[in-house]
Amino acid sequence: DTVFVLNGPNLNLLGMREPEIYGSDTLDDIASRLEDRGRALGLTIDLRQSNHEGHLIDWLHEAQADGARAVILNAGALTHTSIALHDAIRSIRTPVIEVHLSNPAGREEFRHHSYVGMAAKGSIAGLGTLGYELALEAAAKL
Ligand code: DQA
Repeated sequence: DTVFVLNGPNLNLLGMREPEIYGSDTLDDIASRLEDRGRALGLTIDLRQSNHEGHLIDWLHEAQADGARAVILNAGALTHTSIALHDAIRSIRTPVIEVHLSNPAGREEFRHHSYVGMAAKGSIAGLGTLGYELALEAAAKL
């Protein structure tokens, strides 16, 4: 089984981008840790990143078409703005787990609302890259 790990805008810069908020691990570091754990769980990891909303929507549709076990989604700032991503999550039966490195609830007001979280099966936030690993453990049990 495959788990899609979809990352939105600016997450390609992880490791260099505001490390005091997002930590020093890169997306490649996250990918290799997920692949290790995935092997033990019998899950293949398909990790992708795009700065473009439409790509994320296409990939959510693809997850369902491919029969993916689950989607782990860090939509970056699109979390707080994208009704289209909200609708895409609702349009598929594949369970979507929302992940954030930081804890948006403890940050600026404009990060407090999540269109992704309203449609997701569940959410993990504020635990840094560990959140992705916890989401994978959850995906293995869904
Ligand atoms: C983020 C939180 C968002 O508010 C922010 O726009 C990001 C990263 C996180 O992982 O903490 O780009 O999704």
